[in-house]
Amino acid sequence: MCLAHSKVIDGFAAQNELPAFAAGLIDTLNKGAVAMALSIGHRTGLFDAMRSAEAKSPADWARETGLNERYVTEWLGAMATAGIVSIDEAGRYALPAEHARFLGVDAPDGTMSGMMQWIGVLAPVETQIVDCFRKGGGVPYSAYSRFHDVMEEEGKLTFDADATLGLVPDLVAKLEAGIDVLDVGCGRGRALRILAERFPNSRFTGYDLSAEAIATARDKASGLGNIRFVVLDCMKMDDEDAFDLVFTFDAIHDQPHPAVLLRNIRRALRSDGVYIGQDIWAHTDTADNLQHPLAPFIYTISLMHCMTVSLAQGGIGLGAAWGEEKAREMLAEAGFGKVEMHRLEHDIQNAYYVCRT
Ligand SMILES: C[S@@+](CC[C@H](N)C(=O)[O-])C[C@H]1O[C@@H](n2cnc3c(N)ncnc32)[C@H](O)[C@@H]1O
Repeated sequence: MCLAHSKVIDGFAAQNELPAFAAGLIDTLNKGAVAMALSIGHRTGLFDAMRSAEAKSPADWARETGLNERYVTEWLGAMATAGIVSIDEAGRYALPAEHARFLGVDAPDGTMSGMMQWIGVLAPVETQIVDCFRKGGGVPYSAYSRFHDVMEEEGKLTFDADATLGLVPDLVAKLEAGIDVLDVGCGRGRALRILAERFPNSRFTGYDLSAEAIATARDKASGLGNIRFVVLDCMKMDDEDAFDLVFTFDAIHDQPHPAVLLRNIRRALRSDGVYIGQDIWAHTDTADNLQHPLAPFIYTISLMHCMTVSLAQGGIGLGAAWGEEKAREMLAEAGFGKVEMHRLEHDIQNAYYVCRT
């Protein structure tokens, strides 16, 4: 593959003369490619192995991880030139401690390399998305082979039980005493499982459309007697006055008809119940999101997943950047008279709507 533009292939001098916009595009190209290589480092265990900060040759890193030397060498080339790992005069590579904090499955300060996996989840559907631009329609959930793997990993960054429960006074005491809790669009049920383990007197239910996600959720929670998972299209959810606490984690905006789901949640809640909806934070108007640090990622992931999976179910394709203003409007329309919006320090991506009737 080559970049057949004379200004680019003429070398550094010519590149330095590029207009800032074109130089920025080169930067985007580099970073898009590096996101894939970061994802590979995450999935192969290379980052976790390199957390020791030792400097080793590619052959030694390959030996230590049991991976193919030629692949490890090429990957280290991408990582070194991107400034992720260092290279010394002897050709040994090391992962600096200040980078290791954010890289690998066991990254102590949250796995940013785990988030890079989204690029690989989206890339295989590009051609289907291009077709949708011409013909309309959507790409179904089933087209994304690693979606639930990566979503579950993202939950390690975004779900903090103490911070989330701390949004509602006395909620921990009620959970300790025993209440009925529902998680709608629960995926593999990680958040619900953590809560069910911690609060044995409460009863936990998770609904999701995906039979595969629910099968995994059941497997992982098999030792717990206070949790159940149900395959359900939540557009058809008909519970009434059944739950004291309802959660959605990143599960409103990609529904076929989010307004229907919000009404279903409102109906399922007991009169003194509370609904905590975690969803992507943005403004509703694109022009107001120009300074949002994650906006290009949010709009792109929406285009290639959240919006299109909703359209594929015959839905409205609300989109991930539906925004706080629209969220407040829709929550009010669903019958939630009191809505507080919070941001939590550990979670740069989401808003937390605490809603009561
Ligand atoms: C972005 S994922 C979030 C999953 C999970 N809450 C988490 O945080 O890991 C959205 C979830 O909504 C589920 N979903 C989408 N449409 C649904 C529907 N109509 N009924 C029930 N679940 C649905 C998907 O299968 C998926 O697991």
